[in-house]
Amino acid sequence: MVAKNLVCAIILLLLVSLGQAEAALNAHYYDQTCPQAEKIILDAVRNASMHDPKVPARILRMFFHDCFIRGCDASVLLDSTPQNKAEKDGPPNISVRSFYVIDDAKAELEKACPHTVSCADIIAIASRDVVTMSGGPYWNVLKGRKDGRVSKASETRSLPAPTFNVTQLIQSFAQRGLGVQDLVALSGGHTLGFSHCSSFEARLRNFSSLLDIDPSMDLDFAEKLRSKCPKPNKDRNAGQFLDSTSSAFDNNYYKQLTVGKGVFGSDQSLFGDFRTKWIVESFAIDQGLFFKEFVNSMVKLGNVGIIENGEVRLKCGVVN
Ligand code: HEM
Ligand SMILES: *[C@@H]1O[C@H](CO)[C@@H](O)[C@H](O)[C@H]1NC(C)=O
Ligand SMILES: *[C@@H]1O[C@H](CO)[C@@H](O)[C@H](O)[C@H]1NC(C)=O
Ligand SMILES: *[C@@H]1O[C@H](CO)[C@@H](O)[C@H](O)[C@H]1NC(C)=O
Ligand SMILES: *[C@@H]1O[C@H](CO)[C@@H](O)[C@H](O)[C@H]1NC(C)=O
Repeated sequence: MVAKNLVCAIILLLLVSLGQAEAALNAHYYDQTCPQAEKIILDAVRNASMHDPKVPARILRMFFHDCFIRGCDASVLLDSTPQNKAEKDGPPNISVRSFYVIDDAKAELEKACPHTVSCADIIAIASRDVVTMSGGPYWNVLKGRKDGRVSKASETRSLPAPTFNVTQLIQSFAQRGLGVQDLVALSGGHTLGFSHCSSFEARLRNFSSLLDIDPSMDLDFAEKLRSKCPKPNKDRNAGQFLDSTSSAFDNNYYKQLTVGKGVFGSDQSLFGDFRTKWIVESFAIDQGLFFKEFVNSMVKLGNVGIIENGEVRLKCGVVN
């Protein structure tokens, strides 16, 4: 009995201290210490996107990956060391993917207000900027994240896979405190960007012992994707844009799901399950609603796993 009470007390104490370790983010965090922070970041993102139209999608995806692994702590930006293989070099190989944009913004920020703006906040702000820049909504980004000191390639395995069904997707989001509505709204990030064949080609040939093509896919669309991803495939860069208006942030992604033209099985499954189908339909007919919910969910995503005992890195690729 005493032992049981003791265990309860310890658990309670742990919960309380965990609650305190979670720092509250704030829209005005840099108002005094670095008022020009957001302008410096916007300039870096805008300049890079002008030179390379792939930048916006890559930055948005970076934010998702960062927050889903160890919380939004810029672990995604740390470089591997001889002792440690970092997330960057983990299985969904995202090396060489526009990390330089965040590094460049950081270098400018260090000149303007040294040792003040965390790399995790730069990713969050840059993600908002790429959405707005692509025709999507604007919102105030909450700030005050600290950068973590750990990044492990093995942990990228905990990211949801493009082969997941709705049950698996819901579970993956729930583990980060995100709900079904967040899952559907944030999947709208696939209104931007591109996928390599490897992420969806299992849907195109020998899908199952009975069916050649994933039955949830439109047949003409499957034909088109097959021609983009021939077998054998000599082009490692071959693939498909995730939505037919891939550089515009709009609700076209949801419209495509309603006609079987989602690129990933995970995307298409959102239209095949009663828990998510109605949300997909509501976003497909109402872009304003999608924008509103996307903003809500991005703010929630930006709150995942905020750490207080982190640091403000001087360079985003290495711990201080
Ligand atoms: C719901 C679970 C998700 C799965 C299974 C998933 C999976 C993937 C995969 C497999 C790719 C293509 C990688 C490649 O072959 O190059 C991709 C790309 C992308 N994802 Fe997701 N993703 C998910 C959620 C998200 C979220 C929440 C966001 C942001 C809000 C996001 C933003 C992006 C973007 C912008 C791209 C394009 C990247 C580029 O063009 O380089 N994804 N995703
Ligand atoms: C703009 O981007 C280009 C290409 O990434 C880079 O070479 C240049 O230094 C950038 N200029 C500024 C002012 O950031
Ligand atoms: C991942 O990307 C890096 C850099 O482009 C490359 O050297 C490495 O071979 C890639 N690994 C895999 C498994 O594709
Ligand atoms: C989703 O996938 C899991 C794991 O493969 C499987 O156990 C489950 O039955 C699937 N659920 C649905 C609704 O398809
Ligand atoms: C489909 O699978 C069968 C048996 O595994 C194999 O013999 C055949 O070559 C495959 N077809 C394609 C198009 O990959």
